[in-house]
Amino acid sequence: MSTLHDKSWFDATVVATTMVAEEIKRIELAVPFDVSCKAGEHIDVLLPGAERQLKRSYSIVDADRQAGTVALSVFRTPNSRGGSIMMHTLVPDSRLRVSSPQQDFPLRIGARRYVLLAGGIGITAILSMADTLRRVGANYHLIYVGRHRAAMAYLDRVIADHGEKATIYVDAENKPLNVKQLVAEIDSDTELYMCGPIRLMDAVRRTWHDTDLDITNLRFETFGNSGWFEPEPFTVTVPRLGLTTQVEQDESLLEALERAGADMMFDCRKGECGLCQVKILSLQGRIDHRDVFFSEAQKNEELPATLCCCVSRVSGTDLSPNIELDIP
Ligand code: FES
Repeated sequence: MSTLHDKSWFDATVVATTMVAEEIKRIELAVPFDVSCKAGEHIDVLLPGAERQLKRSYSIVDADRQAGTVALSVFRTPNSRGGSIMMHTLVPDSRLRVSSPQQDFPLRIGARRYVLLAGGIGITAILSMADTLRRVGANYHLIYVGRHRAAMAYLDRVIADHGEKATIYVDAENKPLNVKQLVAEIDSDTELYMCGPIRLMDAVRRTWHDTDLDITNLRFETFGNSGWFEPEPFTVTVPRLGLTTQVEQDESLLEALERAGADMMFDCRKGECGLCQVKILSLQGRIDHRDVFFSEAQKNEELPATLCCCVSRVSGTDLSPNIELDIP
């Protein structure tokens, strides 16, 4: 079990900010640690100016060891009242607290072939992998999917640096990605790394599961930050602890429970390990399962028994959505 408080946090200073696509800001930070970052690494950021302690994870897009800087890119989420809006207010000389680079999405060098799949802001997790594979002369295919070109960060760089090894799919140009075809063209010596919206990753995972392909060759980064429905506030009650609180639109259920004083179990905080699962006693609304821990069958139950509270939410009825949990 870990908490927000047991990680080492460092002071970082913003040295530059640039808009790199619609609603996507690149933020370069001077950091006081070694920045020999590896592909797939991210840093955690304690949100500046937040009333309560909130953490977000952002992929390291670039690291400049000589300058001692790392670059992140932040998508301003529609309807955000907190996290991404706060990050978008940063200007040069702003200060914030960050973790050292964390690795949850390692790139294994040595596969015969790679497919890298990025959807939207997911390019920020995938780009350093593509750059690394190009550097080592690996056989790779980079696939970048977006709504329209102006919303696709680093698109020019992808095209310039990865040329014919990159394929771009743009919804607005009626060029959608065919997931079934993509998976059908993958052989047993290929590793697929992906990061993007949950619908895209779910479609790939479901199609992959229908094949004989080795599941360990499918790797993904979730960040637990995109769901089936827009996040909205909802109420959580834990009768055993005598606790009721509102989960704000920009905080997770886990964060709200911690704020209200519950002693929670967790590890990854991004819907992968299942450690934070909590028992559902009753529900008004529907569960927006954003984890990759539970099976499709478990998620599709009419009243699921549990949910991963680090990422999953409650949304969507005319009545105020609320959930009652049992936490020992
Ligand atoms: S803490 Fe790992 S799934 Fe929630």
